[in-house]
Amino acid sequence: MHQYFHDKVIWITGASSGIGAALLHELSQYRAKIIISARRENELRKMMEQCKSSNAEIMLLPFDLSKTNLIPEIAAQVIAKFGRIDILFNNGGISQRSLVADTALEVDRKLMEINFFANVQLSKSVLPVMLQHNFGHLVVTSSLSGKFGFYERSAYAASKHALHGFYESLFLENRHNGIHITLVCPGSIKTDIALSALNKDGLPAMAKDRRLEQGMDAAVCAKKILNAVAAQKKEVLIGKLEIIPAYLKRFLPALFWRLMYRLKPDQS
Ligand SMILES: NC(=O)c1ccc[n+]([C@@H]2O[C@H](COP(=O)([O-])OP(=O)(O)OC[C@H]3O[C@@H](n4cnc5c(N)ncnc54)[C@H](OP(=O)(O)O)[C@@H]3O)[C@@H](O)[C@H]2O)c1
Repeated sequence: MHQYFHDKVIWITGASSGIGAALLHELSQYRAKIIISARRENELRKMMEQCKSSNAEIMLLPFDLSKTNLIPEIAAQVIAKFGRIDILFNNGGISQRSLVADTALEVDRKLMEINFFANVQLSKSVLPVMLQHNFGHLVVTSSLSGKFGFYERSAYAASKHALHGFYESLFLENRHNGIHITLVCPGSIKTDIALSALNKDGLPAMAKDRRLEQGMDAAVCAKKILNAVAAQKKEVLIGKLEIIPAYLKRFLPALFWRLMYRLKPDQS
């Protein structure tokens, strides 16, 4: 248990499944107020039911991240109810399964809107209240695709890389005012993200993904995320052997590229 999460107001996006749902299950052990968001209200309700005997007070707040213009008003509702937001888990997102040469620009824009701009708008909407309280922690679920590009992930990798530039800048500007960031870079985590990943036409790819099926359990990933957040780490890589290329790219770039050439799109 981490003292860090007690008595905090915590907002988790993408809480209806996968990593976000696992974060909720872990965090519900704490005496905290937790706001859970995603589009599927029924799934959020199920998650809340599963946590009903927990220590936390949970509030449901369904919304669509792609409607970025509505986000300031949604954040204002949370601030009006709780008076503060201590920790925001910017976790909701979608992936991609399509080649650059085939992919419509609208698909690139959609990935950027959900994975990057929604994230940015939400953070901008809560930053003033965090600054007012001289404390706030912005946790961002990036990806290993935020560290290096990969086959059939051009827009996804672009959206995740963009998060790093944005949040590192935000941190430098606000670090003396109690603002913390944690950029989480998971590798392959066993979730359904491949099903909702967009294909070249912007439709759900409904892909089967062997790597994800063999990946780390979302519950294990959530525990590692919370350890990194409680330790106020600025960045954390989470996964099995698949995280090695991130280190190779930094320290042995020629070897990194040789390894990348050997991998195939369908292994992604
Ligand atoms: N699984 C992995 O291997 C992996 C690796 C690296 C990074 N990640 C990142 O981890 C995060 C969570 O993904 P996951 O693996 O847990 O997949 P997931 O189970 O598909 O979860 C994605 C979450 O995002 C929400 N979401 C998607 N589009 C949304 C929208 N337009 N508006 C509001 N919410 C939306 C989904 O809820 P609704 O459908 O109910 O809206 C769901 O709760 C993502 O940012 C993903 O990029 C995952």
